[in-house]
Amino acid sequence: MRKTFFLIMVVSIALSCKQGSKTSEEKSSLEKPDYVSMGMTYAQETQKVLGKTLMGTIQNKGVEEAVVFCNERAYPLTDSMATNFKARIKRVSDKPRNPNNLANAEELIHIESFKKIISEGDSIKPVVSETSGEVHFYYPIVTNAMCLNCHGIPEKNIAPEVLTHLTELYPDDQATGYGPDEVRGIWSIVFDLSDNSN
Ligand code: HEC
Repeated sequence: MRKTFFLIMVVSIALSCKQGSKTSEEKSSLEKPDYVSMGMTYAQETQKVLGKTLMGTIQNKGVEEAVVFCNERAYPLTDSMATNFKARIKRVSDKPRNPNNLANAEELIHIESFKKIISEGDSIKPVVSETSGEVHFYYPIVTNAMCLNCHGIPEKNIAPEVLTHLTELYPDDQATGYGPDEVRGIWSIVFDLSDNSN
């Protein structure tokens, strides 16, 4: 039941963003999961929640309180998608704040190519590849002005008390010095195709 409901939700969100989609697509998506739309839905929805929650918390409680929200486990879709589609969802970076979020060799290649695409002003598309029973999905996470409160230039964008807080929590923090519209990291999602029947 939960699985069907979730799939319908994903499909309808995905379709509502794509103008001119045909209903036949909706039908085939319900028969076989559409990993590209699922990955995109996940990336977009979490980004929205992240933005909304962070903005609200920054405004009401200050940046220090908001620090805890920039963590993918705080997002509502993560658990349901991971359980329903055997998905492993990661948010990784070439310059991680949390050392657990360091990109692996393949992810680093995609980060570099997304950086190139964005610096050249080309449109961003997810990278999706299928190998030995798995679908891999990659999509960039790009900074906006709000992110600079915690990922911008120390002192200039990041308030001193926030910096102190971040340094205490993340002594090896590499995730500062960003400007707007830069690749902060990527969503890296692995769908396991071998067993989706639970
Ligand atoms: C209130 C402070 C704050 C704001 C604002 C903020 N972040 Fe973060 N960000 C953090 C913290 C803290 C972590 C480490 C989370 C963890 O331990 O997993 C983090 C981690 C990340 C990561 C995971 C990789 C890593 O470095 O560990 C990405 C990607 C990221 N942030 C992107 C963004 C983007 C994009 C924005 C703006 C939309 C943003 N952040 C805004 C505090 C913030």
